[in-house]
Amino acid sequence: MKAVVATELNEFSVMNVDLDSPKVGEVLVKMKATGVCHSDLSVINGTIPSPFPVVLGHEGAGIVDKVGEGVTHVAPGDHVILSFIPQCGECFHCIHDEPYLCIAGKPDGCLLDGTTRVHNSSDDVYVMSYLGNMAEYAVVPGICVTPIDKDIDWKAAALVGCGVTTGVGAAIKTARVTPGSTVAVYGCGGVGVSVIQGARIAGAKQIIAVDLSAEKMENARRFGATHTVTPGGNSLREVMELTGGRGVDFAFEVIGHHSTIEMCIKCARRGGSAVLVGVGRATERFSVNSLILPLTSKNIIGCMYGSVNFKVDFPMYLDFYRQGLLDLDGMVTKTYTLDEAPQAFEDMESGQNTRGVILHG
Ligand code: APR
Ligand code: ZN
Ligand code: ZN
Repeated sequence: MKAVVATELNEFSVMNVDLDSPKVGEVLVKMKATGVCHSDLSVINGTIPSPFPVVLGHEGAGIVDKVGEGVTHVAPGDHVILSFIPQCGECFHCIHDEPYLCIAGKPDGCLLDGTTRVHNSSDDVYVMSYLGNMAEYAVVPGICVTPIDKDIDWKAAALVGCGVTTGVGAAIKTARVTPGSTVAVYGCGGVGVSVIQGARIAGAKQIIAVDLSAEKMENARRFGATHTVTPGGNSLREVMELTGGRGVDFAFEVIGHHSTIEMCIKCARRGGSAVLVGVGRATERFSVNSLILPLTSKNIIGCMYGSVNFKVDFPMYLDFYRQGLLDLDGMVTKTYTLDEAPQAFEDMESGQNTRGVILHG
């Protein structure tokens, strides 16, 4: 089958690879749509550490083709969304209502048994986040898939696999944005506009979009942003002005850069929260003076996967979509074939897409 494989740091291409059958507890999914997320790029450029070669892709939806022994919750023909974190239902985190922190697997490029189902002539090929679904097919852990209704558009379903769940969840689940509150969102790509939509759904009265790109901020208005600022260095001052000098109740960082993290912490009001969603390099450091948190009672909150419980939340976000609360169609700027994946990455890097989606036909 064809797959998009990062072969070494900063190198990737569409190539043919072999795929084994699903083993016990695993599922073979014929991919229908795969979203191109910044985290895929972060694997290519080493921001997110990964072994190579690795099949990219962690945001997607498709049709179950075959199930391994012991899989009973899905059957061939089912439409499913893939989750890039397994939910075992048994570990400490799963039973304590934090399934997004499930420790059933290790992020080592393998499936749960420590091996991979993808190979080329000379090598094992790893998969990104247990999935590696930027490919015609993916063999994934059964505990990473959940069925969805068959009438849902594939592109919308794919986005729910990462960007939408991460962003909307950051607002309504991780931060619990309250009605009438004020919000700033630093970084208005696919995940950032999802945070904006989550804040809108939660009833925030003021949602300030901040991005280096004026087009991205303008685009954010259609998803619920009420204000934008001048791109660049003055954003912090302008966010403060827009909130009467007080700062926002919730400031979301959706980039993964120390300077914008520091801005979020600064522009959160006394007693407010800075919510860190963007994934930066492990070498990236931000600094906060030791006085500020105790004296202002600010919170710095890490957000993994929008605090998802995917069996409940994927269908919930699709209901929001059906009800017209969540605009997923508007997030898909452009679609690509699998062969056009390099173009999709180029378009993301040049800031042209809210989300690019690969359609597998
Ligand atoms: N200041 C303001 N905006 C910035 C800055 C900056 N210093 N650097 C980048 N941006 C903006 C870009 O202009 C772009 O609009 O951040 C946005 C990032 O959007 P995408 O590339 O579409 O990324 P996305 O898929 O939304 O992911 C954002 O969340 O899940 C994580 O790994 C992911 O860290 C990444 C983040
Ligand atoms: Zn992602
Ligand atoms: Zn678990």
